[in-house]
Amino acid sequence: MATQSRTLVARTLQVVFGDGDRVPDAWDAGLSSEDAGLANALLGHCLRRWGTLQAHCRPQFRNPARGVPLGTQVALAIGLAQLAWLEGVTDHAAVNEAVDLAGDRDLGFPPHRGLVNAILRRAGQDREALRATLDAMDPALDRTPFAELTLKAALYPRGQGVAREQLWKRLQAPPRPTFRALGPAPATLLPVEGVPGALQLAPGAAFPREWLASGQGMVQDISSQALMAFRWEGAPRTILDACAAPGGKTTALARRYPEAALTALEKHPQRAGRLRENLAARGIQAEVVVEEAGPWMRQAGPAFDLILLDAPCTGSGTLQKHPELTWIGPAIDRPRMRAAQRDLLEAACSRLAPGGLLIYAVCSWLSEEGQDHRDWALAQPGLEPVAAWPAGLGAEEGPTSFFRPDPLTWPGEGFQAFALTRTPEP
Ligand SMILES: C[S@@+](CC[C@H](N)C(=O)[O-])C[C@H]1O[C@@H](n2cnc3c(N)ncnc32)[C@H](O)[C@@H]1O
Repeated sequence: MATQSRTLVARTLQVVFGDGDRVPDAWDAGLSSEDAGLANALLGHCLRRWGTLQAHCRPQFRNPARGVPLGTQVALAIGLAQLAWLEGVTDHAAVNEAVDLAGDRDLGFPPHRGLVNAILRRAGQDREALRATLDAMDPALDRTPFAELTLKAALYPRGQGVAREQLWKRLQAPPRPTFRALGPAPATLLPVEGVPGALQLAPGAAFPREWLASGQGMVQDISSQALMAFRWEGAPRTILDACAAPGGKTTALARRYPEAALTALEKHPQRAGRLRENLAARGIQAEVVVEEAGPWMRQAGPAFDLILLDAPCTGSGTLQKHPELTWIGPAIDRPRMRAAQRDLLEAACSRLAPGGLLIYAVCSWLSEEGQDHRDWALAQPGLEPVAAWPAGLGAEEGPTSFFRPDPLTWPGEGFQAFALTRTPEP
């Protein structure tokens, strides 16, 4: 029988390629730290190189044009990825467990146990050669039109050729998680040069699960940390975090403005539950409201001095952390997403106090999700840009009212954010 870690990887690949969904949050929560390390590495290789792995197998099928069921594809990818890229895994474990997965009625396709066994045994005869063959295949096999669109948008207005391959290579490398300390930090976390307060794991150190659960720290990408280091002289009495879960930026706002009354909106009850848990563990006071932010903000009510709208988006800036987006991205209804963002932005503008600060942010490189909304907002009467980000923290030139880290020189996620204020009435 396949181990729990490989079974979980197979189930997660079914979620991505079968259901077209994202990798579920905390999908590896039931695993020990060591098993979670193996499972994450394996899932990462399968997702990043899915196109290559399938292309390698296809000529070995009896009818390559017809292909094979998803259960067979999953078992083959799991077996091949271990043989090629996970040196610590024995041939026996890589092949036999993948064959067991193929034989699983729910996760595999039992009639193809023999096919999976034959392909993997052949591949396992020379693991070095397998790795070299896979690594020499065309990188474009692992890119969908959504990935190509993301690369183009990220690099715009640069020339695309060499830079495109350079950026893709960076996005295909597993990311190093970044943390923010909220209390004492373990000695295994080291400062990130150039980003005050950001921490990264020392090489080889264990992931600090207990420290995170204790509320003494949180995972937060360096782009989010740089974004939340915005400069503004205001002293807000009321703050609205309009799309708040899981609460990383709510936490940053509460720590920066401890005197302010903070409202955190989240429409998904389950995510709101997680937001509440995170805030409680960190000792953060905020009123959590489980509502659709658009209608809620449009209700009559007092204006807010500071509004953060970290809007739902395609997540195109997070391809490195979420390689499944490459594959599920093409099915995202982008016009609908754009319309939802505009609706939320309009509603947020309507609740911004004169002299207040509105920050709109998306973890996306697509200008339709960032820059275009900024152009619209700044064409509205009474709204003006605020130069909130200094040069250096992601922005090449500053101070700037448009935060958009350079994809080739900044190691954080792709983000676009803009800051604006409502001019006080004369
Ligand atoms: C980009 S995430 C926010 C991340 C969060 N600001 C942080 O830093 O931890 C967007 C969140 O908004 C929520 N959301 C999406 N549409 C919403 C809406 N119409 N009203 C309220 N929340 C919404 C999503 O469920 C998701 O939790």
